[in-house]
Amino acid sequence: MVIYKAKDYQDMSRKAANIISAQIIMKPNCVLGLATGSSPVGTYKQLIEWYKKGDLDFSQVTSVNLDEYKGLSPENDQSYRYFMNTNLFDHVNIDKTRTFVPDGLEADSAKACNDYNAVIRKQGGVDLQLLGLGHNGHIGFNEPGAAFEKETHCVDLTESTIEANKRFFESEDDVPRQAYTMGIKNIMQAKKILVVVSGEDKADILKEVLYGPITPKVPASILQLHNDVTIVADEAALSKIDM
Ligand code: F6R
Repeated sequence: MVIYKAKDYQDMSRKAANIISAQIIMKPNCVLGLATGSSPVGTYKQLIEWYKKGDLDFSQVTSVNLDEYKGLSPENDQSYRYFMNTNLFDHVNIDKTRTFVPDGLEADSAKACNDYNAVIRKQGGVDLQLLGLGHNGHIGFNEPGAAFEKETHCVDLTESTIEANKRFFESEDDVPRQAYTMGIKNIMQAKKILVVVSGEDKADILKEVLYGPITPKVPASILQLHNDVTIVADEAALSKIDM
């Protein structure tokens, strides 16, 4: 595991974008595993900037996203498909037919998950998986207690997640109750993993993830067993770790 200390969010984003750029340059037809949330937004901004300068070409890149809310359409501005379009895909020359997100509108969970596993397999697996880290150590929607051996599956969102998300929706009834997520097994099968972590509020969990016991109680702790993980974290997130 390699840990890069960044000064702040912007520096973290630039360093992470550099690693993704290197992947695209070394293998133009690579498969990128992508994440939503606030952690990767700056990374995507930096990639867009370098694309606009002519330094990056996404034309042969394929992407597979970690997760999607069940029941939300791609046009819903809270869907992760919408997030990816507006934060990255609409601004670079990626072929949208090669950008994959679990199908939130597929009501049959088993079908949605099997189809998504098949998509990942058909691409030949993920070359570089980008991850953010949840405050409880979750990755994707794999919450504490999630089995390490699972592939894409449907999860029930916890009351606290529903509560936290309701501010984005007109009413609490509109908040999705379930989501489709790649499982830990899918994530661990990526050839390389890049985790971006920012802020003092992530300092305790980052320490636990990196140096604590490997346990389903802290889903990201399993990353200690992957042989090509790069952590790019800012000083605040690394403040509990001596480096
Ligand atoms: C996003 C995802 C989540 C986030 C995590 C951190 O697709 O699967 O696991 O990476 O919740 O979120 P932020 O970056 O908003 O702190």
